[in-house]
Amino acid sequence: VEVGVVIVAAGSGQRLGHGIPKARVLCGGRPLLDHAVDAVLRSDVATAVVAVLPEDDDVLAAVVAEAATRYAGRTHDTAGTRTPVRISSITGGSTRTASVRAGIDALPPTIGIVLVHDAARALTPPAVFRRVASAVADGAPAVVPVLPVVDTVKVVDGDLVTATPDRAALRAVQTPQGFDAVALRAAHAGDAAAHPGITDDAMLMEALGHAVHVVEGDPLAFKVTTPLDLVIAEAVLAQESA
Ligand code: CTP
Ligand code: MG
Repeated sequence: VEVGVVIVAAGSGQRLGHGIPKARVLCGGRPLLDHAVDAVLRSDVATAVVAVLPEDDDVLAAVVAEAATRYAGRTHDTAGTRTPVRISSITGGSTRTASVRAGIDALPPTIGIVLVHDAARALTPPAVFRRVASAVADGAPAVVPVLPVVDTVKVVDGDLVTATPDRAALRAVQTPQGFDAVALRAAHAGDAAAHPGITDDAMLMEALGHAVHVVEGDPLAFKVTTPLDLVIAEAVLAQESA
């Protein structure tokens, strides 16, 4: 089965607060999107990679074009057939869901498995992509990489704690999230996709009654969200190159 990866990078990065789209923010001297695209290509799971960018972002379009040049001539072996790896970029939407939808629509129709990945999880190890893709290939309609929750989590109402869920049963969810392409396309075509409470594709699939499976995530797949996350990402890269 051919695998396609959608890298959503169309967000504005409000919480990071650099005044430019987060995917363009440099880490170890390279834009976050560049790290994310490289990780996907190094994982060698995909025949098609679509980066979903902010409107008219020439800088990020050039990052993707450069990656395409770097990996020109690269092929992927799907069940004994060698297919050229196609790397492209398109414009996203005003919500993450809209950006994912645009990415899915831009994938070739031959794609049977879709991985949806946040550019902001720029340091995700290639092995996580492989774990997620193989779990979908093994028959799971939806797969998410997860980690145990380290903090105790409270349910609150205003300034009052109303419940404390058992931490042992909780998991923090990362990306890439993997899906059967037919099921994911159908899910995005339906009404549930527009519901504001649905924040990611696994939640959408879960709401539609699909079984969502988990595989082991990786601490390095953390999302660069706040300035502290960027400090951590810089430190990780500095240590890797030391
Ligand atoms: N994303 C997107 N299109 C949007 C919103 C988000 O493609 N309209 C992408 C982001 O680029 C990011 C991923 O979804 O890679 C996860 O979103 P998040 O970490 O929230 O990024 P931002 O929305 O950019 O950040 P913030 O919420 O702080 O503004
Ligand atoms: Mg956001």
